[in-house]
Amino acid sequence: MTPIEEQKRAVGYAAVDRFVRDGMLIGLGTGSTAYFAIERTGQMIARGAHIRAVPTSLATAALCEHFGVPTIPVPRDARLAVAIDGADEIDPRFDLIKGGGGALFREKIVALVAERFVVVADASKRVATLGAFPLPLEVVPFAAPYVERAVRALGVHVVERVRADGPFRTDNGNVILDCAYGAIPYPAATLAALSGIEGVVAVGLFVALATDVLIAGPDGVIDLLRED
Ligand code: 5RP
Repeated sequence: MTPIEEQKRAVGYAAVDRFVRDGMLIGLGTGSTAYFAIERTGQMIARGAHIRAVPTSLATAALCEHFGVPTIPVPRDARLAVAIDGADEIDPRFDLIKGGGGALFREKIVALVAERFVVVADASKRVATLGAFPLPLEVVPFAAPYVERAVRALGVHVVERVRADGPFRTDNGNVILDCAYGAIPYPAATLAALSGIEGVVAVGLFVALATDVLIAGPDGVIDLLRED
């Protein structure tokens, strides 16, 4: 395991140890850091805890099965006690860019139905201003040419995400447009503008959703304090 992988494991485990308790319904995120939260949840269950999880992607659902974590759909009549997920960028107000793995839509729904949304990351994800990481938009394929033109009209370079073996499709059958903003000084305004474009299913800006951010570094895991 590389030092960065060890940090990801430390922070994924710390989030579960700190926030997950026997009997909870939880949300489990997608990506290489959330992986360790899934693994740790499986360890709790192996020791006798009754925990059920809403997975934020098909990949996470498969990992839950692998680690023995029972999964459920988004509940109609209850909130999740906590959701734990990674991020691509985290600013001092705890606003985030997510969707590097293409799971942004389900990740956002899970964050929205959780009482507490805990972000786990290594220190490289902290930024002063969001936007160096290309902002993902999940878009209905039929509307993609229109959305691409609308975003380009804002002066933003847009690239449709592809994989080595062809076009990228999300778990919902949609495409991802990666938008090179450079800097997003007003995330709420950018979120509102992009959400208003017909055909956009989800914007990878998570504004005012994260309640807690745990960051791993070489000296251990720290709990960030939000700056307002
Ligand atoms: C997936 C995500 C991930 O949480 C984000 O890309 C961070 O992943 P990692 O922990 O592997 O760096 O938003 O859609």
